[in-house]
Amino acid sequence: MKTEQLRARTATSAAESLPRAAALLRAGGLVAFPTETVYGLGANALDPIAIARIFEAKGRPTFDPLIVHIADRADLPLVLSPAALEDPRITLLADALWPGPLTIVAPAATRIPGLVRSGLPTVGVRLPDHDLARALIRAAGTPIAAPSANLFGQLSPTTAEHVLEQLDGRIDAVLLGGATRVGVESSVVSLVPGEPARLLRPGGVPRETIAGLLAPFGPLLDAPLGAANSADAPAAAPGMSASHYAPRAPLRIVDAAAPDLAGLTHVALLAPDAEALTHLRTAVAGLQIVAEVALSESLDPVVAAAKLFDALHRLDAALRDVTPGKAAILTTPYPEPGLGLAIADRLRRAAAAS
Ligand code: TXA
Ligand code: MG
Repeated sequence: MKTEQLRARTATSAAESLPRAAALLRAGGLVAFPTETVYGLGANALDPIAIARIFEAKGRPTFDPLIVHIADRADLPLVLSPAALEDPRITLLADALWPGPLTIVAPAATRIPGLVRSGLPTVGVRLPDHDLARALIRAAGTPIAAPSANLFGQLSPTTAEHVLEQLDGRIDAVLLGGATRVGVESSVVSLVPGEPARLLRPGGVPRETIAGLLAPFGPLLDAPLGAANSADAPAAAPGMSASHYAPRAPLRIVDAAAPDLAGLTHVALLAPDAEALTHLRTAVAGLQIVAEVALSESLDPVVAAAKLFDALHRLDAALRDVTPGKAAILTTPYPEPGLGLAIADRLRRAAAAS
């Protein structure tokens, strides 16, 4: 299949590209598009054949459910059950955080195909904070299911170039919409009537913000890291397998005071900030540093989140020609306040895959 590259940077180019992308979606096609978090791989959420093609294109196991994207709050009843729509916690979070990087997992409307939900009674839904994404969903005239537009288990895409690296020839089109703003995926919160709220995936809304908003209803529980997911045990937090978001080169989270460098000759350094980068450089003295990135000048998790996946893509590419086993991306633990939790989570999963 030839993947169409649809220009969408400017209002004029988008005016030509959106009708084409929407027509492809209505015809059951797969279109990658930017959101404020990462690029999504969209398909008509109400068309089970189109949904099946998403799993096929990504090589994604069908026990990992998809997020349904809507452009307007008024469309929420298309996705959630009547009982879910009466949960005051859902109204509260949607009022406060939509449009934005928050996915609500709640009981699904019966029209949502089982494949979108991996057979669960619940569905994830979000209203993205991105004009082009919402314009596309409106033009398609249907809710759009969209996982991140990467091959299963690999790095999430924050640019159209990242999408094409992994999915060129496997999808119908990509909207060339520029780099995404937030850079990590949405926070996923489970809100099932009668059950406590649970953060299934830390993401673009700080945990503290969600917990604060929900405090009148009780504490926000966490899904333990790697709680989840194997083929024989589809779980409360599917898709949250301990290993995920992985570059090709192994990633090691090291202690800069006593790094484990066993077997390495070449390294790429990913530091939380400029000072940490200086420490890491000293720690690897004697090894060849092929590339290095400080995620922000002085520890700013918002800036760091926006740079994270692009940095991992670039460091990974810099190690491509080194003998396997002798190369690694080295990083130090990322501090967890605010968006730091989502960054630390992605780094732990990338390390677990190595
Ligand atoms: O920011 C984002 O959320 C991006 C953009 C494109 O919107 N999408 C994204 O989708 O990250 P994906 O498929 O890569 O991750 C979706 C995750 C699943 O792996 C799972 O952890 C959770 O959302 N999820 C979705 N539906 C669920 C459900 N019914 N129950 C539990 N978890 C669910
Ligand atoms: Mg993903």
